[in-house]
Amino acid sequence: MSVNPSQTSLRTHLCGELRAAHIGQTVSLCGWIAKRREHGDKLAFVDLRDHSGIVQCVIDDGVDLRSEYVARITGTVRARPTGTVNANLATGEIEIGDCNVEVLRSADPPPFPIDARADDVDENVRLQYRYLDIRRERMQRNIRVRAKVNSAVRAAMERQGFVEVETPMLVPSTPEGAREFLVPSRKEPGSFYALPQSPQLFKQLLMVAGIDRYYQIARCLRDEDLRADRQYEFMQLDAEMSFVTQDDVLEAISEAVLSAAEAVTGERPATIDRITWREAMDRYGVDKPDLRFGMELVELTSIFTGTEFKAFAGAASIKGICAPGRAEEFGRNKLDALTDKAKKVGAKGLVWLKVGADGSLDSPVVKFLSASEQSALVTAVAAKPGDLVLIVADEWMTTCEVLGQLRNDLGRPPVHQGPYRYVWVVEFPLFVGVDKESGRPKPGHHPFCRPHPDDLDKFETDPLSVRAMAYDLVLNGWELGSGSIRIHEPEMQRKVFTALGISDEEANRKFGFFLKPFTFGAPPHGGFAFGLDRLVAILAGEENIREVIAFPKTQSGQDPMTNAPTRAEAKQLEELGIRTLPPKV
Ligand code: AMO
Ligand code: AMP
Repeated sequence: MSVNPSQTSLRTHLCGELRAAHIGQTVSLCGWIAKRREHGDKLAFVDLRDHSGIVQCVIDDGVDLRSEYVARITGTVRARPTGTVNANLATGEIEIGDCNVEVLRSADPPPFPIDARADDVDENVRLQYRYLDIRRERMQRNIRVRAKVNSAVRAAMERQGFVEVETPMLVPSTPEGAREFLVPSRKEPGSFYALPQSPQLFKQLLMVAGIDRYYQIARCLRDEDLRADRQYEFMQLDAEMSFVTQDDVLEAISEAVLSAAEAVTGERPATIDRITWREAMDRYGVDKPDLRFGMELVELTSIFTGTEFKAFAGAASIKGICAPGRAEEFGRNKLDALTDKAKKVGAKGLVWLKVGADGSLDSPVVKFLSASEQSALVTAVAAKPGDLVLIVADEWMTTCEVLGQLRNDLGRPPVHQGPYRYVWVVEFPLFVGVDKESGRPKPGHHPFCRPHPDDLDKFETDPLSVRAMAYDLVLNGWELGSGSIRIHEPEMQRKVFTALGISDEEANRKFGFFLKPFTFGAPPHGGFAFGLDRLVAILAGEENIREVIAFPKTQSGQDPMTNAPTRAEAKQLEELGIRTLPPKV
């Protein structure tokens, strides 16, 4: 068999690869009829398309060729006559003449044109006929970008000595993490498997098992509300390593991500920046900062100690952002909308100030601010005439979150727009907030993340300030992945469970199968997982991961092509011991 993928027994070349250098050669091409233009009775110009592109064939025997017919065309490559060269087409200098056409298969007219015009077609229709949608250049490219990323990631992991291990798809339901899909057991009616929302527990057990470096391009399933960056089913590059520090994990994962980026773009990003979670919140107000634009949050608290302005007086944290040149655009209605948004995120209010041409401040609250407060403020945020300044006073976390949201709303470019800015966010908090009912802290990630060694004495006194050895990788404001150094000692695990209000009995009931192995000599270990769909989407220049998944679900979780999910037959349910409630109206 030929190793040249262009050649098969039926063809000698791919349509899109023919150039002036091929002039004079006799070629056989296979593909679909993309377009047909008649010239008189018998002469027709036909574009033949395969995954590599399009080539023009001049047909003069009047054969019936319609859109999407499958054909094999044998002919001679020749230069196009002067004046008919198409500079927009890779094969635009040549055409195929003296054609012999073999219709391999006729076709019904497609429901939408198999070209870029289908981008405007309703997405449900595209998904209903996904096999036709994928015939198009955009989807062909995206799917091939995806394959390139998978391949580069795999190669990078193999290079670094990671061993691919597959983990089960039918697993027990565990309480940590996202909502699971359940699968009924036929042998044990009333019992259920869960589909894994990640291989987390198994990969840690592989470390206990001495695998040392595990990876898997793993399918994960989560029953969550779908969004641009979320599907029920998605793929992770999942990895776990033994006898490592955080730096070892970040390096190994960086190698995989940067290799993938290089494979697609041809350029290897120089480095991945690193900031702490606290700094990310302080400067960008989010834990997935988009570093492609400025408008950073500026600390203003000290300017307003002793202020007369009620809304700022005594506030724990006052911060502002400056949107350059945006004052004019924000009239009353838009400012009200910004204030509403700020309140929705949790602020008590929002102060806005516009900087006039002479540097003066225009704002309903300016009369409450002293001259020195005003000038210190302008200097701190580096405001210039025409700028819009927004200020929030509240608890630190609220101030950060509100301004982080407004910063993104005002300045964030679409995720897939260059340049690519990768950043590691490290030292996430171990706990986030307090559960209202139990009064206990809630875990920031899963409960197996290792607390930062410097913070162990703060467990009882100030649990919310305890940092975890947990880190995220962020690209252009999207969370690409998460990981942590894990707890490998049962005593430490108990300490975390206790802080979370999980008793020994409950821990054993919920995680017993996972905790027992750790009594048999667990090595120190840590790992990471990143979403391949998200990385591929950004590298492919797409804003929605559906565009880089061959057969995705719609926003409402349906597959218009297969009609999944479908209702089960009564007999199937009977076998499973399941009775369903009538559908909710
Ligand atoms: P986490 O839950 O943060 O970590 O998931 C890791 C990454 O998986 C991707 N991802 C998704 N992609 C598409 N659709 C979804 N519904 C979806 N949910 C998550 C994201 C996310 O950053 N086991 C841990 C990792 C570890 O600690 O090693 C985990 O799964 O890109
Ligand atoms: P008030 O004193 O409630 O009438 O608010 C005066 C102005 O300050 C209004 O524009 C409010 O939106 C704003 N404001 C009130 N509380 C805050 C706060 N915590 N942070 C920022 N602005 C606030």
